[in-house]
Amino acid sequence: MKKHILDFTITKVEAPAPTFVLLCMRPSEGSLPECQPGQFAQLRTDAPDTFLRRPISIHDVQGDEVSFLVQAVGRGTRWLAQLHVGDTLNVVLPLGRGFTVGDAKNVLLVGGGVGVAPLFLLGKVLKQRGLSPTFLLGARTKDMLLRLPAFRELGEVLVTTEDGSLGEQGFVTQHSVWNERHFDLVQTCGPGPMMKAVAQLTREKGIDCEASLENRMACGVGACLCCVEALADGHNHCVCTDGPVFNVNELTW
Ligand SMILES: Cc1cc2nc3c(=O)[nH]c(=O)nc-3n(C[C@H](O)[C@H](O)[C@H](O)COP(=O)(O)OP(=O)(O)OC[C@H]3O[C@@H](n4cnc5c(N)ncnc54)[C@H](O)[C@@H]3O)c2cc1C
Ligand code: FES
Repeated sequence: MKKHILDFTITKVEAPAPTFVLLCMRPSEGSLPECQPGQFAQLRTDAPDTFLRRPISIHDVQGDEVSFLVQAVGRGTRWLAQLHVGDTLNVVLPLGRGFTVGDAKNVLLVGGGVGVAPLFLLGKVLKQRGLSPTFLLGARTKDMLLRLPAFRELGEVLVTTEDGSLGEQGFVTQHSVWNERHFDLVQTCGPGPMMKAVAQLTREKGIDCEASLENRMACGVGACLCCVEALADGHNHCVCTDGPVFNVNELTW
């Protein structure tokens, strides 16, 4: 897919939870290029000492408006979190290979932390195709669960929290739904250990599974090789171009 470098104007800023920001924006001129679930964008940050763009998943698309769910963890993301409506942001998109949107009927979308971000557009596209995705979203506490009402508009939402403040207590892999229902496909994004545990569980249960990797990235377009992952085929692959989404059978997990 052709990559575009565009200026965007911020149209809405929300704070769905402490340290998180939802940034909505539309191209300052022209229309939004087609973006697929699981693809990402490189957002330019003008914070001091940050000269590399930051990779952020495409969270939602509504007409020409695209949105990003950002957790402020360092200089770049903190700078993004202080943007205001009317500000201009330079963005490269769409990047990478996203999730499969196929014919699987019973799809479970498993997200942890800010990893829920790309699952929103994925759930929306699945719903548009007449499917009813189930979300299984995990966080440390209920305050860290992001945009639950919006997710609930797309499908059933199951929750785990580590402190038991909402949903079932524990990790996403400990939720009772795994023993109670059959799924044809699991698609996941979140912290590496969580995704590895999900991959292990799906392998035991014989369920197909895709995971979106969040390796450190610099260029985002396959030029610098800083994002490489050694895959099961014995070769190093750029996560930014061959991923970020991989079938877990392609990984060495
Ligand atoms: C394909 C992809 C999609 C992503 N989607 C999102 C998203 O939708 N929302 C979001 O908030 N974040 C997302 N991230 C992570 C985000 O890119 C990093 O948090 C960000 O680059 C950190 O930049 P910083 O300048 O704020 O932090 P830095 O000052 O560079 O680092 C601060 C801390 O963040 C950690 N960190 C930096 N990069 C990453 C990374 N790639 N993964 C995990 N930890 C990292 C560092 O180890 C350090 O502890 C995504 C990453 C990738 C590769
Ligand atoms: S980030 Fe440069 S090759 Fe992937």
